Amino acid sequence: MDTDSVIGVVGAGTMGTGIAQVAAACGHEVYLYDSFGEQLEKSEEGLRSILQRQIKKERMTQDEVDSILNRIHFVEDLTGYGACDFAIEAVIEDLEVKKDVFRRLEGIVSRKCILATNTSSLSIASISSALKKPERFLGIHFFNPAPLMPLVEIIPGISTANGTAGTTRTLINNWGKTTVLAKDTPGFIVNRVARPFYGEALRMLEEGMADAATIDWAMKEIGGFRMGPFELMDFIGNDINYKVTETVFKEFFYDPRFKPSFTQKRMVEAGYLGRKSGKGFYDYGEHAENPEPVQDREAGEKIVNRIVSMLINEAADVLFMNIATAEDIDLAMTKGVNYPKGLLKWADEIGLPAVLENISTLYEEYNEDRYRPNPLLKRKVRNSETFY
Ligand SMILES: NC(=O)c1ccc[n+]([C@@H]2O[C@H](COP(=O)([O-])OP(=O)(O)OC[C@H]3O[C@@H](n4cnc5c(N)ncnc54)[C@H](O)[C@@H]3O)[C@@H](O)[C@H]2O)c1
Repeated sequence: MDTDSVIGVVGAGTMGTGIAQVAAACGHEVYLYDSFGEQLEKSEEGLRSILQRQIKKERMTQDEVDSILNRIHFVEDLTGYGACDFAIEAVIEDLEVKKDVFRRLEGIVSRKCILATNTSSLSIASISSALKKPERFLGIHFFNPAPLMPLVEIIPGISTANGTAGTTRTLINNWGKTTVLAKDTPGFIVNRVARPFYGEALRMLEEGMADAATIDWAMKEIGGFRMGPFELMDFIGNDINYKVTETVFKEFFYDPRFKPSFTQKRMVEAGYLGRKSGKGFYDYGEHAENPEPVQDREAGEKIVNRIVSMLINEAADVLFMNIATAEDIDLAMTKGVNYPKGLLKWADEIGLPAVLENISTLYEEYNEDRYRPNPLLKRKVRNSETFY
């Protein structure tokens, strides 16, 4: 597929508008449809103002902005999608709504058009069941904001033909994105491997090991992460972050590794959603005073070791279950959520015996399945091997 290929995007919300911008900026004609007319206007206005800011910052010229906007056709029905070579669905996260969109699309697009969903939590298999020809269907998971975030997870489903994933990967790579391939499992790579970043931080807070400010300080100062877990939960929104954890937990048949936290649930129930509500783990009011971290390096290292070891254990499980390659797991976490290092590379640097020791100590202490060391990690330690 080249820049002559026509791209269709369904759903002109945050993600659909961002994806349309990416495709149009790469020279494609783009159709962008939303079932709510008002949303189309909002999308066009929003995009216009984002692009105007690019001109102010001297990152784009007026001509470039005009040509991007001219290439995007904001349409009120799907009839034009007959011309599309590649169609991406980015409507609300609702299985029945998505299935309905694909049933309608399949009746309009040509036989060779690839169909993709940007779902973050539904299975590709469940959406594919709506299609008569699911061989040309797969998941492509962009991150928000799509024009800025470099990662896209490519997720073939049980019925996806090999060629479909290959063609898609080439197309999205040509859009300047880093693509990783993942199997159709809950949370794909990023939203699954990242769970302990929040989960272990919440657990330590609940146990009274440290407060939010101290855990955030340790993860940034010692761990090298750009944001601490509590700052990040407040930024994402506790409602959204809790929902992702709950979905992954349920979808993994209630595996205790992903068990959500009561603390976070109560915060959501009370409306402490984070930045957007003015209060979360921190207070964002004008004169708010937030607690200072306790900057004890030794205690901080314990916090970082616990969270990073649990992240590595999860990354090891993704590799163990053949959901993605070691390279793609590391790329996903560095490009999708800006981790300072790929987790498996990091594990090799720390030394796998030390990582295993950290997790085994937790397992012995708690006797909870949540802390069971991954078999691949154990095997590698036994054979004195590394991930790379
Ligand atoms: N926001 C994120 O951070 C993020 C990241 C990755 C993936 N996703 C996924 O992308 C998808 C869209 O998310 P979003 O954040 O852009 O949501 P959003 O609410 O901003 O946009 C969804 C849009 O879909 C439209 N819509 C609803 N039903 C429709 C239909 N039948 N036909 C056409 N349009 C319809 C709505 O009017 C709305 O404009 C979801 O599946 C979500 O899980 C979101």
